[in-house]
Amino acid sequence: MARGKKIYEGKAKILFEGPEPGTIVQYFKDDATAFNAEKQDVIDGKGALNNRLSEYFMIGLNHIGVPTHFLKRLNMREQLVRSCEIIPLEVIVRNYAAGSMSKRLGIEEGTQLPRPIVEYCYKDDSLGDPLVSEEHIAAFGWASQQDMDDILGLALRVNDYMSGVMYGVGIKLVDFKIEIGRVYEGDFQRLVVADEISPDSCRLWDLETGQKLDKDVFRRDLGSLTDAYAEVARRLGVMPKGTGPKPTLVN
Ligand code: TMP
Repeated sequence: MARGKKIYEGKAKILFEGPEPGTIVQYFKDDATAFNAEKQDVIDGKGALNNRLSEYFMIGLNHIGVPTHFLKRLNMREQLVRSCEIIPLEVIVRNYAAGSMSKRLGIEEGTQLPRPIVEYCYKDDSLGDPLVSEEHIAAFGWASQQDMDDILGLALRVNDYMSGVMYGVGIKLVDFKIEIGRVYEGDFQRLVVADEISPDSCRLWDLETGQKLDKDVFRRDLGSLTDAYAEVARRLGVMPKGTGPKPTLVN
């Protein structure tokens, strides 16, 4: 499918104009970044894995009535999505303490939280996506109270869906980040899950061994990132051909 003009290039994806008005082609790069792009690498196969995994999760969400921007996967690296206006917030849901929450509050990584905790960060790379409160969001007009009610509902539904799907394949959903888009339908607007849901934006730990199967493998230099993502894809039955671990040669 012919894609149109490049609209935006981010750290892990490129957006192009889609074939119909209101559509966008989302291209998954192999680039990996961490710590606001202080650490960077190109990891062969990551884009294809995230494209497939995000497709899998978004289709599942659509099936259970959680609206997403996803329309269809086009090829190994591209998917067609609805164009939407991204609300400038990273919506994080945490089931177990880890990462920045563990650091900020001194809670040991892996401690189960009394209930899922939702946090908001203001999406601004130049500021390092700072944590903000609903007071900031309301005062600066990033989202309305109605939007915030809808966002909380979406975030918790995604959490229940993702936790269940991952539990079914022996993986604990520690936390994740989603982005929310606004789509216009005539006089109406509604919020949908946008961007991507992949091991780049989740923490996924093997239930038995605690092995990390997400971007922390890259952030913390714990081994092969594609092996970790391919393991998630393999367990879910969405392993794309040609991205599996390379066979080990024994002489
Ligand atoms: P954090 O513990 O570093 O705040 O990360 C919380 C979750 O959000 C974790 O699943 C990783 C994800 N995340 C992103 O998707 N993008 C980011 O830029 C950051 C910092 C975290």
